[in-house]
Amino acid sequence: MIELKDVHKSFGRVEVLKGITASVQKGEVVCIIGPSGSGKSTILRCINGLESYDRGEIGIEGLKVDRDAPSIVNIRTQVSMVFQRFNLFPHRTALENVIEGPLFVKKEPRAQAFERGRALLARVGLAEKADVHPPQLSGGQQQRVAIARALAMQPKAILFDEPTSALDPELVGEVLNVMQRLASEGMTMVIVTHEIAFAREVADRLIFMRDGVVVEEGPARQVIDNPQEAATRAFLSHFHRTGALPPATTAS
Ligand SMILES: Nc1ncnc2c1ncn2[C@@H]1O[C@H](COP(=O)(O)OP(=O)(O)OP(=O)(O)O)[C@@H](O)[C@H]1O
Ligand SMILES: [Mg+2]
Repeated sequence: MIELKDVHKSFGRVEVLKGITASVQKGEVVCIIGPSGSGKSTILRCINGLESYDRGEIGIEGLKVDRDAPSIVNIRTQVSMVFQRFNLFPHRTALENVIEGPLFVKKEPRAQAFERGRALLARVGLAEKADVHPPQLSGGQQQRVAIARALAMQPKAILFDEPTSALDPELVGEVLNVMQRLASEGMTMVIVTHEIAFAREVADRLIFMRDGVVVEEGPARQVIDNPQEAATRAFLSHFHRTGALPPATTAS
């Protein structure tokens, strides 16, 4: 469903993606892990056209992703994104946030959008919060609203960029549970995360990135339990020892 071929991307003189080749099948859950600055967010942003890339090709169901082509509007409705910091409209209720895309981008009839919006909020465990504004919700609740909003576009895939990193530890579980449920329902998902245990449990495949390249990839359990590359081993062992991310790699 998502295909990256030798994707290169520079910011100024710094090449941050140095030839990324990867693919995601329909229904697959792929987690991307790696040190800060390795290019994880940039990949997600290139996949749904928030960012342009310089060389190589990204395709979604055979359609080329080109940030500057008219087709990008179509691609963005098919590939939703969930960010670390929720990005909800504070002056709109949870329900209004969820139905924004269906109403204004997809031109869905109002009654239908409201009904689907309520059902989606129920699906993420927030049926009672439909009329509440985001500042009155916990971080975990806000992120679940953001997931409902992503689902409201009936996307073919959802990209998650560290969806739980901004949350207090006790709120991480409720968001991961919703994501795990989506995965088991067959949603195609690409997840940048530092939740290694979650990745091991939920991901079909794991990609370890460092300094703009894919260092290692494979079945999630295999890569986490038995990493083949020294860099992967170092990253994971730091994680297991300290429960924290290793310091950022210096740009080479
Ligand atoms: N808009 C930008 N302009 C200039 N440099 C950028 C921009 N966005 C990202 N970069 C640089 O590109 C590199 C990759 O950034 P990216 O955000 O993709 O890393 P990441 O793996 O997501 O890191 P983190 O784990 O900290 O989120 C970094 O060195 C970053 O400073
Ligand atoms: Mg990032």
